[in-house]
Amino acid sequence: MKVVKPRGTRDFPPRQMYERNHVGQMIESLFVRYNYQEILFPTLEHSQLFMIKSGEEIGEHMYVFKDKGGRDVCLRPEATASVCRMFVDSLQDLKKPIKVYYNCPMFRYERPQKGRYREFWQMGVELLGSGGCEADFETIYLACKSMEALGLEFTLEMGHIGVLRNLMADMGLDERVQDKVIYYLDAGEEDKLVDLVGEQTILDLVKLEGSDGILEKAGDVLEGYARAQKTIGELSDVVGLLDAQGVEYTINLGMGRGLEYYTGIVFEMRVEGLGAENQVCGGGRYDGLIELFGGPPTPAVGFAFGFDRVLDAMKEQGVVFPEREVDVLVAPVNRGVWADAFEIVSGLREDFVVEIDLLNRKLGRILDHGNDLGARFAVIVGPKDLSLGEVTLRDMSSGDQNTVRIKDLVEELSERLG
Ligand code: HAM
Repeated sequence: MKVVKPRGTRDFPPRQMYERNHVGQMIESLFVRYNYQEILFPTLEHSQLFMIKSGEEIGEHMYVFKDKGGRDVCLRPEATASVCRMFVDSLQDLKKPIKVYYNCPMFRYERPQKGRYREFWQMGVELLGSGGCEADFETIYLACKSMEALGLEFTLEMGHIGVLRNLMADMGLDERVQDKVIYYLDAGEEDKLVDLVGEQTILDLVKLEGSDGILEKAGDVLEGYARAQKTIGELSDVVGLLDAQGVEYTINLGMGRGLEYYTGIVFEMRVEGLGAENQVCGGGRYDGLIELFGGPPTPAVGFAFGFDRVLDAMKEQGVVFPEREVDVLVAPVNRGVWADAFEIVSGLREDFVVEIDLLNRKLGRILDHGNDLGARFAVIVGPKDLSLGEVTLRDMSSGDQNTVRIKDLVEELSERLG
């Protein structure tokens, strides 16, 4: 009986894993240079963690089930709530700001299509304990620098949930209505706002989209709403820092996010060539979430790349991945030299990627296999050479070969492999 994998999940053959690891390491090395440290949390969480403040959208798409003890558990649909829970559990004593990153699978029961999977990877950062615009800036800047490091063309769009929430709070709209407004904005259903709130100021605000000139217009629209106007100031501080670094962006004051916990700046990055699922990154500030999970008031900001989409985008945009290289193929000419050949292999593997024939093939076939692997050199181990403490070193591209003393082999290969 053939058993297939669940819809929306994928297998990753070696070549794909090589590319995924290569890209993951490039992003990770940047995260590390920004002094982020890796963390991990369970794949399985109590469903409640994401019910409290992640929002309707996530709630609808969660894999939830009862475990054998009758508890409601789920496969994590995103990481931010888990990181906040972990902070409350075990990170509170660390010096602030706490900067952590993760690269792990998330699960959402969505309709699978190009770029949208039920199991997908997110690579993200969370910066806990700083409420300033400098933290917002550094987070957004890191996301941009990561895309640049990968050679990806992208666009950055920013909004500010706090402007909208403060305005709605000043108008006396309760949090449930506020959440709904943001949900409609995220879903692109602005037409529903008229029935839900009808306030012209809100409708005017969410239409504002463009470059930094928009902020001045927003100031006018928000005349008489002091708190919301002050929040525009926060956005313009971040914009000022981004301008100083030459980062390009558009501002969209009608930007909602599918997750409800955002309180401040929010941003998304998109790329060409991915069709409808072109959002490769989403993030923002969520100052109330840790407190909601029982921790002390702790401001926080972060983002997550949709790692699968980043890879898809790199392919679409023609970014070339380096070939995986096998440095050396060791070819024992008969069974009698196996013990020596394995000893040589073991020494070479301290420094190089080494394959040895494991199918007891004839020399010619082993060398053919070396060509298939793209091996740069073959080390031919035969009884005559061995009796002199030597092996034959063959350059696989030119076919030239010479004998080398076994004790000099590593040095010779290091020189020739550069
Ligand atoms: P999100 O926008 O829901 O935010 O997800 C982040 C990214 O994950 C998206 O931009 C997208 O690239 C990718 N993604 C989402 N769903 C799928 C899917 N079904 N298949 C493939 N990729 C997908 C969050 O999850 C927040 N926790 C981000 C964050 C971190 N905010 C603050 N800190």
